[in-house]
Amino acid sequence: MKKITIAIDGFSSTGKSTLAKQLAKKLHYIYVDTGAMYRAVTLFAMRAGFVENSKIDKIPLIDSLDAIDLKFVFNADLGFAEMFLNGKNVEKEIRTMPVSKNVSQVAELELVRKKLVGMQQIMGADKGMVMDGRDIGTVVFPDAELKIFMTASPEKRAVRRYKELLDRGEDVKYADILENVQKRDYIDSNRAISPLKKADDAIEFDNSDLGLEDQFQRIYEHALRIINK
Ligand code: DC
Repeated sequence: MKKITIAIDGFSSTGKSTLAKQLAKKLHYIYVDTGAMYRAVTLFAMRAGFVENSKIDKIPLIDSLDAIDLKFVFNADLGFAEMFLNGKNVEKEIRTMPVSKNVSQVAELELVRKKLVGMQQIMGADKGMVMDGRDIGTVVFPDAELKIFMTASPEKRAVRRYKELLDRGEDVKYADILENVQKRDYIDSNRAISPLKKADDAIEFDNSDLGLEDQFQRIYEHALRIINK
């Protein structure tokens, strides 16, 4: 069967990763969560003391890029890969609010993007992959055969994220999460390098009122049409 590249971009907490994981599983493709990579670099910066008063100290972070080793390690029990930073599983730490608050500043840095985009292009070189992020269909794989752009209202997304974090036992407030979602939308969409925007040939999905199963079926059918062409 022909293998294709599936790029899923969009705003935070639109359910990109849930959908991408489901698609990858069904198609027996590799799934790559590029947000996890930006989050792991952010965690590195925080642990190294390069973040003060919510400001990233860019120069030492850029100087340390070669010391940041990122790997996805497949966890058969979970059915997806987890992020390892310098040999340690950081899957839980990278999803916390402090990391979410700092990550957009890290994702704005040109040399960080250059390193991560290069890694992503190598990971996806053989196709048969679903990759989610912000710039996959525009920058990382502009020739991807299927591009999806996901949107939903900030309020719906904040509710989803709030529930997720509560389930994980984090002590969070809905208002903080809504503010974080809106702030990240703004920074991600307005940064100079690779801003979040829909590729001209991407299919837009507003899932504010669409159930997961419906969404999955529609996108899966698109994928099959391209694969079987
Ligand atoms: O998908 P996420 O919310 O885990 O992503 C975390 C941050 O990383 C997000 O605020 C924007 C940034 N990001 C990016 O700039 N480019 C990507 N390909 C993926 C994520």
